[in-house]
Formats: sequence, C-alpha cells, structure tokens
Amino acid sequence: GGWGCLLLFGMLLCGLLFHTVSQHGTRVDEYSKKPNFIIILADDIGWGDLDVNRPEEKLNNTPYLNLMAEQGLRLTDFHSPASTCSPSRAAILTGRYGLRNGVTHNFAVDSVAGLPLSEVTLPQLLQKAGYYTAMIGKWHLGHNGSYGPTNRGFDYYLGIPYSNDMGCSDIPGYNLPQCLPCDRYGPQRSVHKGCYSKVGLPLIENSSIVEQPLDLWTLTEQYKSAATRIIRNAREQGQPYLLYIALAHMHVPLAPPLSPDACSSTPNGGKVYAASLREMDSLVGAVKSASDDTNKNNTLIWFTGDNGPWEKKCQYAGSVGPFTGKWQTSRGGGSAKQTTWEGGHRVPTVAYWPGRIPANTTSSALLSGMDIFPTLLSLAGVIPPSSRRYDGIDATSVLLHGEQTGHEFLFHPNSGAAGRFGDLQAVRTGKHKAFYITGAAEACGGATGRQQLHDPPLVFDLEWDKSEETPLEVGTPEYKAVAERIARRREELLWDIATDKSVSTADYSTDKSAAPCCDPRHTVCRCHTQG
Ligand SMILES: *[C@@H]1O[C@H](CO)[C@@H](O)[C@H](O)[C@H]1NC(C)=O
Ligand SMILES: *[C@@H]1O[C@H](CO)[C@@H](O)[C@H](O)[C@H]1NC(C)=O
Ligand SMILES: *[C@@H]1O[C@H](CO)[C@@H](O)[C@H](O)[C@H]1NC(C)=O
Ligand SMILES: *[C@@H]1O[C@H](CO)[C@@H](O)[C@H](O)[C@H]1NC(C)=O
Repeated sequence: GGWGCLLLFGMLLCGLLFHTVSQHGTRVDEYSKKPNFIIILADDIGWGDLDVNRPEEKLNNTPYLNLMAEQGLRLTDFHSPASTCSPSRAAILTGRYGLRNGVTHNFAVDSVAGLPLSEVTLPQLLQKAGYYTAMIGKWHLGHNGSYGPTNRGFDYYLGIPYSNDMGCSDIPGYNLPQCLPCDRYGPQRSVHKGCYSKVGLPLIENSSIVEQPLDLWTLTEQYKSAATRIIRNAREQGQPYLLYIALAHMHVPLAPPLSPDACSSTPNGGKVYAASLREMDSLVGAVKSASDDTNKNNTLIWFTGDNGPWEKKCQYAGSVGPFTGKWQTSRGGGSAKQTTWEGGHRVPTVAYWPGRIPANTTSSALLSGMDIFPTLLSLAGVIPPSSRRYDGIDATSVLLHGEQTGHEFLFHPNSGAAGRFGDLQAVRTGKHKAFYITGAAEACGGATGRQQLHDPPLVFDLEWDKSEETPLEVGTPEYKAVAERIARRREELLWDIATDKSVSTADYSTDKSAAPCCDPRHTVCRCHTQG
C-alpha cells in the first residue's frame, strides 16, 4: 500500500525531472539513459570503521571512502536489514523482511536449499529490464543446484558461496581461534572449533568451482580485476549494468598485506584489522576509479554493510563507534553482530553519483538495506511485481533531492541473539527505539547475556543516548506516546505479514552431499589441477 504510493510518487518526480531537463534541451540523452548501479556490501563492518563517521579520531584507514563521501552523500542512520549475513542479504535482494522472504538465519556449508525460489530478486528484475547483471563475492543464499547466483538473476558470478571462515585455506588469515591450514597431501590433521575441515572453501565462477581450497591472500586481487573488467566491458557493450560486490572484508579470517615486522610472531591485532580495512578501502577505490573513468555521471555507487562487527573476534572485530549498547553490555554479553542493539545493524553507508547526488552532504534519514531494491528499480524505471508486499521504501528523494525523512517505522529482526529467528523484536521511529525482547551476542572473552522480555517495552532516545544506556521512564507522556504508536504499527505489520499470500518458507535442511566439492577424490575437495 504505502510503498506503492511512494513508488508512484517517485515516478511522478522522475517524470517531472525528465520534463524539466528536456525543456533545457541539453542533457536528455544522459538523463534518459538507464543508470548503472554498483552495490558494494562489506561484511561485518562497524559503523565506526568509516573514518568520516569518527572525525575527532583523525583516522586514516578509509581514504577512498572518505573521498566518496566528500563527493557524495553519507548516510548516518542507515541499517542493515538484519544482524547476520544470510537474512541481511536476502532482504537486500528482495526488499522484504525475513518473515516474508523466509530467510531468517544463516545457511550452512551443506545446506540443501537457499533463498526460496518463489522470491523475486533485484537482479532478476533488472535483467528482465535489459541490464547486464554481475555479482562478485560472498553469496550466502544457498549454493546447491538452482540456488546459486546465476540462477537468481545474475549473468555472471565470481565469488565464495558463504563466509570465508566456513572452510580451510592453504595459508590461513587472522582469526580467533586460529584455523589450521588445509593439509596439502594427507587428511586434515586436526579439526579446530569454528573451522570446517571436510570442505576447503571453494571459489566459484558462474556455477563451477575454479579454485578449492581458497587462497585468501589472492582473493582481493581476483575481485579487483573482475570488477574493473566488468565495468569496462559493460561500457563497451553500451548496456546498463548492475554490479553487486559482496566483499570478503571485514569478515575473519583477515588476510591483509602486512609488512614483515607486522607479521612477526605476535602480530598486533589492531594493526591487522586496520591493514585489512585499508585493503578493503583500496578495492573500493579501484572500483570507483574504474567507474569514474568510464561512465562517471551515469553510475550510482552505494557502499554499505551486512551487519555490525563480530565482537567475539576481539582485536579482529571492527568499531561500533558510539553505538556501544551499554544497557546490554552492563548486564553481560556483546551488543553488535547478531543483536538488535545499534551496533548490530547500524552500518557505515555512502552513496556516490556525480552530477546527481549532491556532493559533500550528509543525511540522517532512517533507511535500510531493504530500500536498495525499490530505489534501484525506481531509478531504472522498473515496477516490481504487485503480487507481493515489500518493506523497503524508495529512497530516491533522499539520495537526489536532500529529503531528510526515510522510514516512519523500521523493525529490527532477531538474528540469533534471543528467541525465534526473524521475529521483529526492536522498532525504530524518529529518534526513539523500542525493544520488546533483548538479547546479547558472545562478547570478546566469552561472556554472554540472557534473553529478556520487556512488557512494557524498553524505549531509548537515540538522539541523546546513542549508547542505549538508559531507557525512558515508563509512564511519562513521551514514553506513552511513543509506546502507543509503536504498538499500533507493530500489530498492523504482524497482521500484514500474517495475511500476506506471498510469504515464502526457506528449506534449512542439510545433507553432506550438498557441500560444494571440486574433486571428491582429493582431500578437502582440492581441485586436482592445482599444485
Ligand atoms: C542439490 O541440488 C540438486 C539439483 O537441484 C538436487 O537434485 C539435489 O537433491 C540437491 N542436493 C541435496 C542434498 O538435496
Ligand atoms: C559465465 O556465464 C556468462 C553468461 O552465460 C558467460 O558469458 C561466461 O562466458 C561464463 N563464464 C565462464 C568462465 O564460464
Ligand atoms: C559530470 O557532471 C558534472 C556536474 O554536473 C560535470 O561538471 C561534469 O563535467 C560531468 N562529467 C562528465 C564526464 O560528463
Ligand atoms: C565538505 O564539508 C565540510 C563540512 O561542511 C567542509 O569542512 C569541507 O571543506 C567540505 N569539503 C569540500 C571539498 O567542499
């Protein structure tokens, strides 16, 4: 309902803009050409990892992203749709909450299925509208049979099917606990908690394994050259394109280029993380410069994250900035990835489009990764199927016209910290955030917290309490007004989902034979052509 109106409004606006431009008579071709889209999704990145989000600290880890923000728009109140990987990615590609698209928690190495085939994806719709669609990086929405990216709307794919800690590497990067390398000749010598030994992580091109086990240390270069090749080819073909780059950075194991001294027996964790951040940033810079060199004014680059830092990885986890979730941490446990505290889902976000997005601007509009779906479709002039309900909003006017409002209400689903996966346990509206259920992730050092139900809900004022430390007093007029509005909207949304005939159910079953394997005759499925 509301979304349809927004879409209609966006199209009217586009029409008006086009009309105005035609009257001036010069830039018609440029503006009527379908725009290119580059979505860059970092993994486990913290809101505070972007230098310009913490100017007082004078960091210099993300110079290219800082430049992109200076030439574009920094979104300071932008949220990943979930606080873990698969549900966040599913919501980005479908514009729908996990309760609708079926993906409420992560898929495994031996998952038989993935994002339900009944779901319609962003690349599918753009592909139908004449776009060339390519994806580089981590998919994590199911890899067996028809669940891979090339069957879900991408013309081309190069990347890993799930997280880079879900398999062994010939030279393992930095992780806690440290993973052992894949043994080259014999069977795996030992199995370390958190590392999978049966299957080395594969690198997949289209739907074939091209490398297994994965060499983490050359992955960045492979991604970089594939991305720049795709951007240049697309220009030669003259076809509009969608390039979705889901980085391996900043997920452990980290594998940054380090000077020999930094690699010494006791590497400084902070140094490793910072070096990895700089490596990620240089990859973003290479993509930006390839795009700037080809079709600068017709390409939107949108950088964001899939969820907050993985706190239990200690020195190998990113920074949440001021969003420290103190109510939770003072009671034990972590408050970032997996949780609905701000550190779990507020992600660093920059949108860049020379000539279209005003330079050096900042917006605190409340937005979500789910908005990428309706926004790109609107910019491309594509209307999504009306047979289903969407939760993202068209953010075109925030990106292009300085509009400062986004979602009136934004819900945050449980992603593993407490209770049932996917349940909408926290709600934002304006500066207020309400929790019906709280839960913690594992903190650095192993502390965990327990799930707590809140009736009446906890309500925080994020404007003066970014660290979510002290809830409003129940019974004050401010509390009552917020709690009532939120309760009403929550009922409406739950009813809307309960009556949604387009809800999908994901099959989370597993079977050993569904694990990707280059050559089952070799240990860790090693491709026999290698070494
Ligand atoms: C993997 O996908 C193939 C093809 O869709 C299917 O035949 C097979 O049953 C799936 N594997 C498992 C373990 O379900
Ligand atoms: C991947 O698929 C695309 C589209 O079908 C094709 O053009 C390309 O050659 C394929 N690449 C490889 C390495 O198979
Ligand atoms: C892109 O747009 C900007 C601002 O409108 C303009 O100054 C610049 O010349 C354009 N560049 C190209 C390559 O068209
Ligand atoms: C961007 O904005 C900031 C703060 O408003 C200002 O200090 C800076 O000089 C601006 N940068 C450019 C390149 O205009």
